[in-house]
Amino acid sequence: MIIAIDGPAAAGKGTLARRLAAEFDYAYLDTGSLYRAVGLGVLRAGGKPDDDVAAAAVSLDLDPALLGDPALREERTGDAASKVAAMPEVRSNLMEFQRNFSIHPPGSKQGAVLDGRDIGTVVCPDADLKLYVTAGAEVRARRRFLELQQRDPATKYEQILADVEARDARDTGRADAPLKPAEDALLLDTTELAIDAVFLRAVDLVKERL
Ligand code: DC
Repeated sequence: MIIAIDGPAAAGKGTLARRLAAEFDYAYLDTGSLYRAVGLGVLRAGGKPDDDVAAAAVSLDLDPALLGDPALREERTGDAASKVAAMPEVRSNLMEFQRNFSIHPPGSKQGAVLDGRDIGTVVCPDADLKLYVTAGAEVRARRRFLELQQRDPATKYEQILADVEARDARDTGRADAPLKPAEDALLLDTTELAIDAVFLRAVDLVKERL
């Protein structure tokens, strides 16, 4: 069983993917963390995230320690990730690991849940279930703001909204594997639907496929 979950930043896809993997005892891969690790690797080396050569080199030999780095979740890392993710060479360097994970989930699990931007369209076009989780930009920015404000009280909502909108534009506008729902994806809008309701709906959909 391969479950592909795509959608824009802060739509709730990570929470949904993690809960589904726990519910069915499947392996979970947050593919955004791979792009974040590449972005962070470039920043740590003192480079700029729009440097293709530096990003390609980091993605070719990704240091696993970066995946556990607390800075992975920072806004500036997300921004760098969205820049390196537009580079075809970076995407192709990260592809094999993702495909392999979906076909041979670690721990001999019976299934895999992958979340990202192009899982249903490019990485796993034959996934058994494809979900596209979305919500309005303001709702997503508000959620991200409330989360970040706990760590840094100086966080400004307007700045977060601008970041979310810039990232949406970059992720949907790039030429290679842009963010878009697969033709056979089911849309789940979390603007007004609470995550618990989305989770229960997704559990039913997985059970139908089992
Ligand atoms: O989901 P996230 O915010 O951690 O993702 C960070 C960036 O990585 C996002 O802006 C776009 C990119 N990404 C991608 O292009 N393809 C994926 N499958 C996952 C993430």
